[in-house]
Amino acid sequence: MSTDNTSLQLEKIVPQAEDFLPLLGTDYVELYVGNAKQAAHYYQSAWGFQPLAYAGLETGVTDRTSYVLEQDKIRIILTSPMEDGGPINEHIAKHGDGVKVVALWVDDAKKSWEETTSRGAKSFMEPNEESDSNGKVVYSGIHTYGETVHIFVERKDYNGTFLPGFKAWNPKYKPTSVGLKFIDHMVGNVGWNEMNKWCEFYAKVMGFAQLISFDDNDISTDYTALMSKVMSNGNGRIKFPINEPAEGKKKSQIEEYIDFYNGAGVQHIALATDNIIETVKELTKRGVEFLYVPETYYDDVLDRVGEIDEDLAPLKELGILIDRDDEGYLLQLFTKPVLDRPTMFFEIIQRKGAQSFGKGNFKALFEAIEREQENRGTL
Ligand code: FE2
Repeated sequence: MSTDNTSLQLEKIVPQAEDFLPLLGTDYVELYVGNAKQAAHYYQSAWGFQPLAYAGLETGVTDRTSYVLEQDKIRIILTSPMEDGGPINEHIAKHGDGVKVVALWVDDAKKSWEETTSRGAKSFMEPNEESDSNGKVVYSGIHTYGETVHIFVERKDYNGTFLPGFKAWNPKYKPTSVGLKFIDHMVGNVGWNEMNKWCEFYAKVMGFAQLISFDDNDISTDYTALMSKVMSNGNGRIKFPINEPAEGKKKSQIEEYIDFYNGAGVQHIALATDNIIETVKELTKRGVEFLYVPETYYDDVLDRVGEIDEDLAPLKELGILIDRDDEGYLLQLFTKPVLDRPTMFFEIIQRKGAQSFGKGNFKALFEAIEREQENRGTL
């Protein structure tokens, strides 16, 4: 359930957002992975996620195994197939590990499905109910970019651990949290010339509005380029930037993603913390790898962003980037891809007033990404 305290400011920025699809937050993000048991261990030990729920043979589910983990308001599901063939295997064979479901928490899943499908969304799941002794949940779902889907989850009549079909998962091994609070935004990469189509989808089908737009003049280095628009729902709790590749001298990082993922998909999930220095120190200690930021970035960064509360030394040591907009500043940094294929990664972000996404860091950041691409020979 991704919420923040910035809804009012965003409502001012997004006056045209319609309210036919009220969203309470992100309910969960589900990844299809090759080995959910081992992935769950990684998200526990390296990322500080806490065990929440489990579904599999022991709960009567025979075609898949799912582990649910949480950290404050963030919930992820890791799901692996237990049978030959079928949609989960096909998804993994085509894309590698990756995000299948971005589930949205709603008050009325049936109405959410009706409003979106009547505006042109392709149905993924018609409204249906599941219940157990803890109450009932209503689900429905629609397709978005690539093979990614949104599932609407109505859980107001449910008070179990997670969802029907899951049992509480309570292992002895429980590394501590690293201080991650909620999903700030989730970014989709789409193919050449598809950004506007998908922004229109979020506007028309889901009632989102555009927050900010960048073009390839903003986000380009000598070699790589992309275009990006940020779509937000009315209360600002759900923010989906959409990227497409742009022509550069060499291959765009978005194109690299599309090649390895075999199509459009979730590029990064930005997780918010209220103490980025402590969170990143802990993640680094546990083996999470971040993009290298050139030391020279820090030589003139304060000239660009002005005064900040933090000392520069730990930011420089950890490679944390700084940017400022009219409303304040933000601190952010990006992991290397967390999967074998150079596809999905995470962003860690701490907002100190700023509502933007780090535009001023893009050039410094992309130069860092290009060094990684160069190492992989895919630039
Ligand atoms: Fe981001």
